[in-house]
Amino acid sequence: MCGIVGYVGQKQALPILLDGLMRLEYRGYDSAGFALYSKDHFEIKRNAGPVQGLIDLTQDCGKTETQGIAHTRWATHGAPNETNAHPHRAGEIVLVHNGIIENYSQIKEYLSKEGVQFSSQTDTEVFAQLIEFRRKEIAKKNPTQSAESTLLQSMKKAIDEVEGHYAIVLMALGIPGKLFGIQNGAPLVVSKLKDGALIASDIQAIIPYHNEVCFLPKGEIFIADKDGFHAKGLKFETIDWTADKVEKNGFESFMLKEIFQQPMVVADTLTGRLPLDQKSPFMWDHQKAHEVLWKNVKRLYLVACGTSSHAAMAAKYYFERWARLDCQVDIASEFRYRDPVFEPGTVVGVISQSGETADTLAALRLANDAGASTFSICNVPNSTIARESSFQYPTKAGPEIGVASTKAFTAQLTMLCALALDVGRLRGIQQTKDSAQKSFHGLARLPQDLDQVLSQSEAFIKIGEKLKNQRIILFVGRGTMYPIALEGALKFKELTYLPAEGFAAGELKHGPIAYIDPDVSIITLAPKDEWYSKTISNLEEIRARGGHIIAIGTEGDTEIQKISNEFIGLPKSAWGTQPILSVIPLQLLAYGCAKALGRNIDKPRNLAKSVTVE
Ligand code: F6R
Repeated sequence: MCGIVGYVGQKQALPILLDGLMRLEYRGYDSAGFALYSKDHFEIKRNAGPVQGLIDLTQDCGKTETQGIAHTRWATHGAPNETNAHPHRAGEIVLVHNGIIENYSQIKEYLSKEGVQFSSQTDTEVFAQLIEFRRKEIAKKNPTQSAESTLLQSMKKAIDEVEGHYAIVLMALGIPGKLFGIQNGAPLVVSKLKDGALIASDIQAIIPYHNEVCFLPKGEIFIADKDGFHAKGLKFETIDWTADKVEKNGFESFMLKEIFQQPMVVADTLTGRLPLDQKSPFMWDHQKAHEVLWKNVKRLYLVACGTSSHAAMAAKYYFERWARLDCQVDIASEFRYRDPVFEPGTVVGVISQSGETADTLAALRLANDAGASTFSICNVPNSTIARESSFQYPTKAGPEIGVASTKAFTAQLTMLCALALDVGRLRGIQQTKDSAQKSFHGLARLPQDLDQVLSQSEAFIKIGEKLKNQRIILFVGRGTMYPIALEGALKFKELTYLPAEGFAAGELKHGPIAYIDPDVSIITLAPKDEWYSKTISNLEEIRARGGHIIAIGTEGDTEIQKISNEFIGLPKSAWGTQPILSVIPLQLLAYGCAKALGRNIDKPRNLAKSVTVE
């Protein structure tokens, strides 16, 4: 979704702003723009379409300016065109904005009656015009007050009047060398460089310059100048992400690189946590987790969106089996508007790669307000969701740039598998099935097994290429393979734009079987697990109706090969870790098909990486 970059200092600002915009492209956007503070005026350029289109407009500008703000916009209010692109100018000020102003139409009506003219359909311009309107009012009453004090007062007044979650950064004529802004529910990260101050909505735009950053506290107006940042409550910290982690490193897309990083990501997520004797507790802050979350737990809600919700669905199987815990999985956009029951002993776990997803954050806040104990599984250190949860189980996937989530998902599954095993121990559950002990071993050898699966990547991609002419693709699985089937379908539709659906194998005959014919491919997840024979029966039913079957099973399984058109054999892993292996071919099938169709792999149309609005 929208991205913000701002710089003020001693260097030429434009290259820094444009570099930042390119690094934020992955978030998803449809127009881009920047404003430079140039002596006594603003140089503003905006463009509908890619950042490259904006760069093409910059031949003769930005040579001397050392201060500016820039933005990528993902349209919410008003069409994705140049007029609605940011920055928005209102009198003496120019502003960029992330998030939503909920009461913008009332404010617009009020300002219109006062004679303010609007040139765009955006809520952003309304915010800019409101600040400018208040600025003029205050200046009239206090003509001798400094321009900076007047601006700060007008910002405070306007902030009191607007409702919503947002972040803004602005510059004002007559106050050179300074950027002003606030985060009110949409993150802003800042860093003090040797030659100035850099600000962005996302760590990715900052990391190539410096890894000491501060996530601005909510509700505090900040001022940035060449010497750094001035605001209350700034706490700088070092982030262990490096610039090379946000480069493609020779891969043709970020997504492909991220798929291949999965063995490492899983290892990093477990390093220092997996007890070597595979008997002792996992090595996170055990005492605190026990106290805060698990000692009196009676019910667990796992809440997330999209791919992260599929990780939650898989975890339900883990928690029920190993921790004997009532585990309910909810989509955050539903959970937040339902009336969930928070009895004493309710623990709510939210799962999010970005840690900024608006619905997931709202679900977390609902749970916190209701007095439930909360934890988060987030990939972005210090994200809002991570900070607002009572306990954190961070995944260590590193920056995920491809919009379609891959490595963050495997890291989430890994963490959830380990967590459920641990909670089973904390609760003193006697394991009646051998899956718990085997899954410990499975976790320890997961990086190796993932490497083995990835060694077949070419074959998976080729099968994916062949799917490009199918009428519809179905993904089916039972038990822990059911959420993986849903994830396979989601990956497929978001990357290829072709119709794809995921089903529990047992549901096929309750409806979907109606559209099975030779133009329909059915990708079946059928490892040799406790549900194997049932899934085989379902496959027979599909075969009888002429469906094209691609089976993903256990290597060496000859029975399934006889009834499928194509077969992908995976190493046999434990009950808890098999789903983590099984998602890899699905990611690569989607990738192969999308590539054959010429789709934009890293930035599928209409999607945003970090969904910060409802
Ligand atoms: C799909 C995908 C999305 C996200 C969803 C939640 O590939 O990436 O479905 O999983 O938008 O995002 P996070 O995990 O950041 O809360």
